[in-house]
Amino acid sequence: MGAKKRAEARIDELRGLIRHHDRKYYVENEPEMPDREYDQLMMELVELERDHPELVRPDSPTRRVAGEPTEGFATVVHSVPMLSLDNTYSADELREFDARVRKHLPDEDVDYVVEIKLDGVSVALTYEDGVLATGATRGDGRRGDDVTANLRTIRSIPLVLSGGRSRARASRGGSRGRTTATAGTIEVRGEVFMPRSGFEKVNRRRKREDAAPFVNPRNAAAGSLKLLDPREVAERPLEAFFYQLVPGSAGEPATHHEAIGTLGELGLRAVPEAALCADIESAIERCEDWQKRRRELDFDIDGMVIKVDSLDQQRRLGATTKSPRWGIAYKFPAQAETTVVEDIVVQVGRTGKLTPVAILEPVFVAGSTVSRATLHNQDEVERLDVRIGDTVTVEKGGEVIPKVVSVVKAKRRGRPRRFRMPDSCPVCGEEVVRPAGEVDLRCENVACPAQVKRSIEHFASRGAMDVDGLGTALVDQLVDEGLAADYGDLYGLARDDLVELPRMGERSTDNLLSAIDRSKGRPFSRVLFALGIRHVGVRVAEVIAGRFPSMAGLRKATEEELSEVDEVGPVIAGSVRAFLASPENRRVIAKLERAGVRMKAARARGAAKKALEGKTVVLTGSLEEMTREEAKVAIEAAGGRVTGSVSSKTDLVVVGNDPGSKYRKALDLGVETIDGKGLRKLLAR
Ligand code: IVH
Repeated sequence: MGAKKRAEARIDELRGLIRHHDRKYYVENEPEMPDREYDQLMMELVELERDHPELVRPDSPTRRVAGEPTEGFATVVHSVPMLSLDNTYSADELREFDARVRKHLPDEDVDYVVEIKLDGVSVALTYEDGVLATGATRGDGRRGDDVTANLRTIRSIPLVLSGGRSRARASRGGSRGRTTATAGTIEVRGEVFMPRSGFEKVNRRRKREDAAPFVNPRNAAAGSLKLLDPREVAERPLEAFFYQLVPGSAGEPATHHEAIGTLGELGLRAVPEAALCADIESAIERCEDWQKRRRELDFDIDGMVIKVDSLDQQRRLGATTKSPRWGIAYKFPAQAETTVVEDIVVQVGRTGKLTPVAILEPVFVAGSTVSRATLHNQDEVERLDVRIGDTVTVEKGGEVIPKVVSVVKAKRRGRPRRFRMPDSCPVCGEEVVRPAGEVDLRCENVACPAQVKRSIEHFASRGAMDVDGLGTALVDQLVDEGLAADYGDLYGLARDDLVELPRMGERSTDNLLSAIDRSKGRPFSRVLFALGIRHVGVRVAEVIAGRFPSMAGLRKATEEELSEVDEVGPVIAGSVRAFLASPENRRVIAKLERAGVRMKAARARGAAKKALEGKTVVLTGSLEEMTREEAKVAIEAAGGRVTGSVSSKTDLVVVGNDPGSKYRKALDLGVETIDGKGLRKLLAR
């Protein structure tokens, strides 16, 4: 054998060995070889491939991170639409599902498979002759993003199926081991997720690097798959489980539970803990059992999935346009945990509202760590009878905001301290008031540092004056150092003072100053919104600016004239009047005027039409690019109107992660949809 032939044979052997050990380690969780020895095999292969570049093949284990960063993802049309399952929340609804199935299949025996429902990102992988060809996200169910390069970096996803390429060799060598046919196209579907332990590690690193932590493992997984550089994806601890062999794929078995076995034989990581149940009652038992045991797993599950086992029965049951009739999801109820109230503090908001906040011993609830929860007001504190030192139940539903739902009185020890809202503002010491008919207490001192800080932050926020780089920490510094006592002072900041601030430096100072300077040109309606007048959101600011297109005109407007404006009622009108009448506010507005901030609307004629002028927009799912509130503000600033439900009048639906029924409705009605990235682009126009 010549040197080249020898190298070729060894490369082949090494690839086979590495694949075998990858499978043992990442898929079967039964490592057979110490890491060091594995690393040596890998190193040897890397060197041989370096010396013989003509022998490099894309499916080599050395080529997991391949390809350059991309500008965006190509679109993949799914061979069979990726539907989603209907959700149920109770045992009785599962019994109803069983009744529907039986009605469709009279006098037949029906077995069910119960699986865990992974809370990740669904993906479809296509293997051609055993080699990973494409990997795509679900997208809108019909077409998704081609994220092959990113999926290749996930070690529990084999680049080559078992019984694939190696089969030829095995038979040549006379092996009689069992093999699975991998010829032709095999499509499998499953879920990519980040285990909780990996999630915590990633977040610890992000905190160290001053990057915003991910809210929960699902967002972390979704965000990672959307990264444009596969090298970065390779650094994220992603994993995958598979639960479906798409019908039509080669070597299709007769039942779903056998299909799960086939996935395993192909070297794919099949969804664990799948159980065959002879009737719906034992399926329900299984669901309820896992509801209690979900914490045993190192990854999040948000429910269980019940599927008809026979694939022939599945075919005959078919699907509606949205979901299959052969399967259903059983979602776990909002998750709750208990923890201890370490303290109750009072937070002062932008408008002076005092809010009691429970400081909790950190606890992991429904996918994220919770260390504070709002108690809303004194009435709520009393209703719950929550005291400092109490053990409480903290719950999170579908939403991310946690709430204290009850006190575990049985655990109350000694005499825990009661909490009472203070008579004076905890920040400035001024006496607080409780306006008649309201439950909230307020600090009415406009110079209160807490209010000043939050109102400057609001002034600078996206959708308002959009001062890039002016976030919470910097605003706090400016106020604490006495450099700004109101937002009007932003325009008088001195370069020398800023450079001195910790973590500022020359470059950030110049960037900040030019961002502040640029903000002077924001439209008058944005200025009006930025002032932070109670009840005046982006939309209201627009209509007011439409009717009173200058500050001078607005100052003269009476409460009556204001309430006549469409969408402006007496409450808003009163709030605007009171704000503009206050001498302190007038003084701040005068500062803005002197600085050259725009106090007049540009003339309507000839003005550029805004990106979403007159459009009705609906948001569904969570966006990675911005919070829901930011999206709303930005859409309204671009002339759009955000509503809660999709109808034929809706112009556009912005679809984030895990969209709800609004998304389906949009598809049904043929309403245009875009994702967070698309929205960003649109708003940048
Ligand atoms: S079967 C027709 N099995 O839940 C869809 N889905 O709405 C068949 N999921 O989009 C899906 N674990 O992303 C199935 N064991 C499991 C699952 C599972 C998680 C996700 C999947 C799907 C959604 C259902």
